[in-house]
Amino acid sequence: MLKTLMKQIKEFKAASIATPFFMLLEVLMETVVPFLMASIIDDGVNVPGGDIRHICIVGAWMIAAAAVGLFAGLMGGKYGAYASAGFAKNLRQAMYYNIQTFSFANIDKYSTAGLVTRMTTDVTNVQNSYMMILRMGMRAPASMICAMVAAFLINGRIASIYLIAVVLLGCVLFFIIRKANKYFNIVFEKYDDLNASVQENVSAIRVVKAYVREEYETNKFANASAKVYNMFVKAESIIACNMPVMMFTVYTCILLISWVGAHMIVSDSITTGNLMSLLAYCMNILMSLMMLSMVFVMISMSMASGRRIAEVINETATIHNDDDPVMEVKDGSVVFDHVYFKYKENAEGYVLKDINIDIKSGETIGIIGGTGSAKTSLVNLISRLYDVTDGSVRVGGIDVRKYDMEALRNKVAVVLQKNTLFSGTIYENLRWGNKEATDEMCRRACKLACADEFIERMPDGYNTYIEQGGSNVSGGQKQRLCIARALLKEPKILILDDSTSAVDTATDARIRKAFATEIPDTTKIIIAQRISSVEHADRIIVMNEGQINGIGTHEELLEGNDIYREVYESQTSGGGDFDEPAVKEVKDNE
Ligand SMILES: Nc1ncnc2c1ncn2[C@@H]1O[C@H](COP(=O)(O)OP(=O)(O)OP(=O)(O)O)[C@@H](O)[C@H]1O
Ligand SMILES: [Mg+2]
Repeated sequence: MLKTLMKQIKEFKAASIATPFFMLLEVLMETVVPFLMASIIDDGVNVPGGDIRHICIVGAWMIAAAAVGLFAGLMGGKYGAYASAGFAKNLRQAMYYNIQTFSFANIDKYSTAGLVTRMTTDVTNVQNSYMMILRMGMRAPASMICAMVAAFLINGRIASIYLIAVVLLGCVLFFIIRKANKYFNIVFEKYDDLNASVQENVSAIRVVKAYVREEYETNKFANASAKVYNMFVKAESIIACNMPVMMFTVYTCILLISWVGAHMIVSDSITTGNLMSLLAYCMNILMSLMMLSMVFVMISMSMASGRRIAEVINETATIHNDDDPVMEVKDGSVVFDHVYFKYKENAEGYVLKDINIDIKSGETIGIIGGTGSAKTSLVNLISRLYDVTDGSVRVGGIDVRKYDMEALRNKVAVVLQKNTLFSGTIYENLRWGNKEATDEMCRRACKLACADEFIERMPDGYNTYIEQGGSNVSGGQKQRLCIARALLKEPKILILDDSTSAVDTATDARIRKAFATEIPDTTKIIIAQRISSVEHADRIIVMNEGQINGIGTHEELLEGNDIYREVYESQTSGGGDFDEPAVKEVKDNE
């Protein structure tokens, strides 16, 4: 994990090295100052008549040392911030870029909320602790060692008081951190829940309102939020013990040193100046210990975050290009050859079982079947959104796994069942299909998809701004825009996954007619719930529980396929659908 994270420091290596260096310089200056102070007191003030010259010279040195210390401290702060912010930026980018390579299977593994937490809260954690490590990781131990050495040089007996204090304080801090750590580990899991609640709620706010579930959702959020709050209060209140324990130790040390020191001054075994320096070192040592403990808290807090970040960066896409990929899709023929498919390797049954289909280029294929009968799963294999578990899918005579993914997906346009538009104008959205499309091409595609009529009625026409997720267009309008966007790819295979479900039947028929006359060479695969959407197709596939129940023309299926006939009758006699064919009622009435 550390290796993965360290790799992302990249161009901020220099700053990462400079920071501890400046901090070290600051520590050195901090150690020198009390030495100089002792010299001023002992050799300048405490000599008969006083030595002004000595005081001035050493005083000047002291100012210089303080100035260098200040400069080093400032630079350390600056480079520390630069390095840690840069590190965080690289981590976010690395995650983001890797997420872009994720296949649908990878995306299924992480929740959206989880990915968002990883890219925000977790990165911020690592950023803060990296800054802390750069600045304090070197500074605190160095400062402690320097002060300790200096103290022993001045007076071993008094310095041993520090040693005892450091060991005692170290033990207490260790227990505090261990206890707090336990809570911090839980906090981040709770964060995921909180984010999941926010994300789900805000993105589905319309559904929440429609079902008057605001109160339920608010309670859910309040619960998640309370859990995070509780854990933080517990962890932080333990951490807060640090300060009083540390202050208690500092004052005990000062008392002890003053007491022992006073006796020693009386017996002339220590000078006043040295005693003053020792007191200054006391503060330095214990402060460093305190900082060190904070560094440990930060590190342990960010360990969990670091792991979660590394997981995303190291995730390898389950679908990659072949070593020597085919760049050209010859034609729009599709062959399913003994295809078996399941979403998760350890899943028990197959979602698709022994699928064999041979679709010729330019053919129009209808797919029909109940919800969950694996229609979407079937077509997702064509553009290689998922890979088959067994068997093969061939497009243009070549296994889809042999193609360059971009080349394949440019020629196989899918209008997904759960489709979405992005914030931007209609033109911008359409050009997702083809960056270079001219206005003329965009208009033609919209005409084919019967989207031109409503776009032209909009005040800004094709420059109308679509809100995020396409919230300012109707469901049917959105579907037609999505179809137009797919048409702009000029695909060899066009797949519409229930893409006209929200479009009225008359418009649906017009779109189908336009397809037949305007893009006759494109293979069209149309998934629908309404028989009327597919009855004119060259062939219709009836799916049932992941298997093909029948293939044929409308007439053939009416003749020989029970499911198809039942659905047809239920739809023509009004009402009913795949899951509850109205035909049952008809029978009951007989
Ligand atoms: N991403 C996924 N991970 C795991 N299982 C999935 C996933 N997507 C679908 N499934 C499962 O696969 C089966 C087939 O789903 P699929 O979406 O292909 O059905 P469908 O025929 O398109 O249904 P609908 O008409 O409702 O769109 C279902 O049992 C579903 O639970
Ligand atoms: Mg579906």
